[in-house]
Amino acid sequence: MMNHALTSALANFTIQGSDLAIGGVTMSYLAEQHGTPLYIYDKDIIRKKYQKLRDSLPENIKIYYAIKANPNLEIIRLMGELCAEFDVASAGEAERVIQAGIYPDKISFAGPGKTFAELRYAIDQQIGGLSIESEQEFQHIRTICKQLGKTANIFVRVNPDFDLSQAGMKMGGGPKQFGVDSERVSDLLKAIKKENAVNFKGIHIYAGSQNLAAEQLLKTFEKIMEYSISLVAETGISLNYLNMGGGFGIPYFAHEQELDLAAVGKGLKKLFKKYGSKLGHTSFILELGRFLVGESGVYLAKVLYRKISKGQVFLITDGGMHHHLAASGNFGQSLVRRPMPITVANKQGNQTEKAHVTGPLCTPIDTFGFVELPQAQEGDLVCVLNSGAYGFSASPHLFLSHPPPKEVLV
Ligand SMILES: Cc1ncc(COP(=O)(O)O)c(C=O)c1O
Repeated sequence: MMNHALTSALANFTIQGSDLAIGGVTMSYLAEQHGTPLYIYDKDIIRKKYQKLRDSLPENIKIYYAIKANPNLEIIRLMGELCAEFDVASAGEAERVIQAGIYPDKISFAGPGKTFAELRYAIDQQIGGLSIESEQEFQHIRTICKQLGKTANIFVRVNPDFDLSQAGMKMGGGPKQFGVDSERVSDLLKAIKKENAVNFKGIHIYAGSQNLAAEQLLKTFEKIMEYSISLVAETGISLNYLNMGGGFGIPYFAHEQELDLAAVGKGLKKLFKKYGSKLGHTSFILELGRFLVGESGVYLAKVLYRKISKGQVFLITDGGMHHHLAASGNFGQSLVRRPMPITVANKQGNQTEKAHVTGPLCTPIDTFGFVELPQAQEGDLVCVLNSGAYGFSASPHLFLSHPPPKEVLV
């Protein structure tokens, strides 16, 4: 079976001799310069991906970068030049964006468990949008606004009755810790309307993540628009913004094909034609992480041992699940554990074989899978592609006290 994810991931890179190159430099050279294990991100891939997205989407959509996907400061700065606005999920992430030189009003903060101190920080910094995820949080915000003598820019995050079908991770449709249940939102909006301390900006709905089916994304966006129109009709509140979440995926597994971005763009234009006038002067927001940065990054680990066990090849590397939890299949992209796209960076063109790629940890879950890849020996470089999102920062580096990987941008 053709490995579509591997083919589309490799298309981002060139080959020099038998070496994969990133940003015009061979990965072997970068491994020599910086050591392994190593994350490498290519800024040009991010720029091109952003431009393709921008060109495909209607102009009235703002794109926010969800920094949880990759909070590397250089990447935040680059995204500051591109989409300019950010979705964060903690005060720590907000601080990181501000540290990267971005103005607080370009930040939107969502998360079901914001502490009083985090809310206070966000209001004090006058961040652009604070998504309220419960009635209690609204009360905290009122109290803080009175204490600080400041107003808070708020969104109401809704727990919708629907989810994002075919999404790797679903954040709606049933009891959830995220957002306010949809049937209670109009009462909350009526209370917000009476409150001078807050500046209501709009509705935020995030229904799921890692979706490759354009028609499912569009169905969800349509439901979000219909629901928002009913809220406006019921409460008379005006929506300056409608944050429709996102969930645009990238292909991680052999059978997965790229999202048809042109179809998403075309479908959104149709939806705006159908529903736009019923919403008023609303701007739309999409908050994307992995779609913008996922394909820009690779994770390199050196083969320490080539070992045969009961007739099967094991490539035991100096990196593993403690640096790249997602590549070990433990980050929820799929219910079944499947390998991410993997190759051997310095052995392109070699005959391929099936091998277990593992890390050095004393647990059987420290494996990147039993995969077909170019034959490798000790010292060769295993390369996990599509590692630009939920890699370095979403992995348990401290587990077994190995040194953390390095990160470089080219
Ligand atoms: C509220 C919210 N926004 C944005 C994202 C980013 O998701 P992705 O990286 O899949 O685009 C997530 C992911 O969990 C999320 O929960």
